[in-house]
Amino acid sequence: MYQKRPGVFMADWWDADGRRHRKQFATSASAREHEHRETALAHAERASREMKLAARTGGGKKPRTEAIKGTIEPAKGKLGVMIPGMGAVATTFVAGVEAIRKGLAKPIGSLTQMGTVRLGKRTDGRSPKVKEFVPLATLDDLVFTGWDIFNDNMYEAASNAGVLDYRLLEQLKPFLSTITPRAAVFDHNYVKKIDGPNVKKGKTKMDLAEQLRDDIRDFKKTSGASRLITMWCGSTESYIEPTEAHQSVKAFEKALKESDEMIAPSMIYAYASLMEGVPFANGAPNLTVDLPVMLELSRKNEAPICGKDFKTGQTLMKTVLAPAFKARLLGLSGWYSTNILGNRDGEVLDDPGSFKTKEESKLGVLEHILQPALYPELYGNIFHKVRINYYPPRGDNKEGWDNIDIFGWLGYPMQIKVDFLCRDSILAAPIVLDLVLFLDLAKRTSELRGLGIQEWLSFYFKSPMTPPGLYPEHDLFIQLMKLKNTLRHLKGEELITHLGLEYYD
Ligand SMILES: NC(=O)c1ccc[n+]([C@@H]2O[C@H](COP(=O)([O-])OP(=O)(O)OC[C@H]3O[C@@H](n4cnc5c(N)ncnc54)[C@H](O)[C@@H]3O)[C@@H](O)[C@H]2O)c1
Repeated sequence: MYQKRPGVFMADWWDADGRRHRKQFATSASAREHEHRETALAHAERASREMKLAARTGGGKKPRTEAIKGTIEPAKGKLGVMIPGMGAVATTFVAGVEAIRKGLAKPIGSLTQMGTVRLGKRTDGRSPKVKEFVPLATLDDLVFTGWDIFNDNMYEAASNAGVLDYRLLEQLKPFLSTITPRAAVFDHNYVKKIDGPNVKKGKTKMDLAEQLRDDIRDFKKTSGASRLITMWCGSTESYIEPTEAHQSVKAFEKALKESDEMIAPSMIYAYASLMEGVPFANGAPNLTVDLPVMLELSRKNEAPICGKDFKTGQTLMKTVLAPAFKARLLGLSGWYSTNILGNRDGEVLDDPGSFKTKEESKLGVLEHILQPALYPELYGNIFHKVRINYYPPRGDNKEGWDNIDIFGWLGYPMQIKVDFLCRDSILAAPIVLDLVLFLDLAKRTSELRGLGIQEWLSFYFKSPMTPPGLYPEHDLFIQLMKLKNTLRHLKGEELITHLGLEYYD
């Protein structure tokens, strides 16, 4: 869905035969609703065709991956990680990497560091570590830079964030103090709750993009990195919808030169990175790369992009529980989620514009997992509400409550309550690490680097990205299978379907 001009909104979807359609509406809500309905219908139609085809062909054939079509270049040299937004998540990630390198802590929560991938049959006993199976950069290869509107170096920013114990931070101080922020591209209208002194000046937004491109080239030269990744860990920007300016590179560049107000700072970072051929991941729910212009640039410059908004606390739980209800055909009448959070992210989300961006990202999950179009009696009428309340005493230690109203056999109601006392940045840091290493792998893999969206990385995001009109996959375990099967496929290993009939031959 995008806004063509004031008062004209275009629903944009693909039908079951892969044909693209557009229809004009007077409000964004009606365009979005139409787009969702048509997408769900197309999805249901495709699913039913696949089932009929499987029934006709006997289904169940063991899918063998095709012989690998391309090559994976080795991970030679340093990998530069560039982070717009040196706040709680960014500093917890960088300090964590250094602590692990020094042998002071373990990379808990990281699939690339601790995860394994089963190969072949269950009886084969082959389950190498992910990092031994595919050629990933090592933690020792990582070098860092960042941008922020505040002047604090990584040590000061980590101390202010208050996530990590000061005794650990003291041991990392000499390293963290060397990472100082570059001046940010910032617009107070997009993040109303904060303002800071370390901000770039430019005549137009195109000037600002050029300054960011200079920063990127400078970091590559001074750090000696052979490859780079950009990871947005900046604040959540105010909610906006795509416009005509975001529909192509040509339109976007014209809009940059005219300093169009619909171009948010995060988009300028994304544009600069993709122009430099650097993959970009978005930890926040902002539109940023979820736009036709960025997909076009990503494919053209072979700079992979993936979803938005790290899937950490409450949404992680939602994407585990909702698939269980659907698997057992338990109905859902309501899901009320509320959070208290006291870090700067919580303060930024206290602004209604930034909260709306987050809310959209959190709300999309249930509809896509539960597929009300396929199961109207179970999921056709769900009341779903998400609240985030800024509550300073809690700092980064968020508390997320969920009240879930479900119904079972003969419609009898039941309730589930979840109270997750989590640590936001502790959950986010390993996601950042995995995304850095996997995006670098994608960039070095001939079969992946020109695809644009890396759907196999949906596992890490509240809002996975897909091509226009394709339903995103939110179920955590399907996402994990997609990720691991992608790795198997890249290495020419058999895909794992869990069919298992071969054990009974
Ligand atoms: N921690 C989690 O579990 C989690 C989960 C999902 C998403 N996120 C998102 O990740 C982002 C970072 O979270 P956090 O807890 O580190 O927040 P934070 O407030 O501690 O850090 C964000 C930093 O970004 C800086 N910033 C804002 N706009 C900028 C710009 N245009 N350029 C450069 N710097 C800019 C701010 O000054 C701040 O230092 C937020 O958008 C948050 O919503 C976090």
